[in-house]
Amino acid sequence: LSERTEVDQSRSDMAIFTARRMANPYGAYPSEDAWRIARIRERFPYYEMKDVTPHIDPLRTIKSPREVEALRRNGWVSAEAHIRAIEVTRVGGWEYEIEAEATHVMLREGAEGAGYPAIVGSGPNGNVWHYQENGRQMEAGDLVVMDYGASMGHLTMDITRTWPVSGAFTALQERAYRCVLEAEKAIIAAMRPGVTRQETLRIAEEIFEKWGFRNQYPGGAGHYVGMSVHDVGAYDIPLQPGMVIAIEPIIDIPEEDLHVRIEDTVLVTEDGVEILTAHVPKELEDILALVGRRARQPR
Ligand code: GLY
Ligand code: MN
Ligand code: MN
Repeated sequence: LSERTEVDQSRSDMAIFTARRMANPYGAYPSEDAWRIARIRERFPYYEMKDVTPHIDPLRTIKSPREVEALRRNGWVSAEAHIRAIEVTRVGGWEYEIEAEATHVMLREGAEGAGYPAIVGSGPNGNVWHYQENGRQMEAGDLVVMDYGASMGHLTMDITRTWPVSGAFTALQERAYRCVLEAEKAIIAAMRPGVTRQETLRIAEEIFEKWGFRNQYPGGAGHYVGMSVHDVGAYDIPLQPGMVIAIEPIIDIPEEDLHVRIEDTVLVTEDGVEILTAHVPKELEDILALVGRRARQPR
């Protein structure tokens, strides 16, 4: 009797949408699920209704060996899609070309489709959170941010990479990239069973502070990933083996058209983590070496 989850929207996102809809005096219709729940209550007034999601959510939080197998495969495929996206990037290219190339790789490698709509934001679009139009022509000096993952076996992946369209960072872009990369790696290095999200957040905050990026988004160990990209689960409990979590520190300075995000999805193991998306590079030199390697001019 809770809101359902969808692949790109978890139950809490759906509940927010329902609340917004109900708060709108011109469109106060309940969600389809809320409507169904009301009908069931009406039809069976003598029964006590119980929400079973508190029992299901812990099952979703700790992945089974079979789920881990599907997630590993998805990690490789989604990473391969990012590699392709970086390789085809060119000054004068369009954001949708990058989305198309990444989607091609996902489908070719057996994905059911995208886990959530592709976010390919270049230049000022990098600062538009959850941008999905992917329709801008890219210019020299732009950064491009791609947040995209496949759905395989009804499980998703969550990856973001940021790279310069022309294959070279400006000094400010490079400083932001190095800061985000250092924080992301430090969060991952600190993750193991028993560690709390708060502890990883403090580590990332110190690194952002050291680089002089205040009031930004160091993140720490972030949201769960599974059937939804923002998956269900409790956030006030320490890490446990079998959890699958996204790490995504962010620097976002719209006045500078600067948005740098590096995001990986990891599996918590008995003594640390396994980075499911490790196949796509993130070291600065490795990313730069990939940019435009397979770019081709349109006919
Ligand atoms: N792709 C959604 C997120 O990074 O949270
Ligand atoms: Mn993401
Ligand atoms: Mn994420």
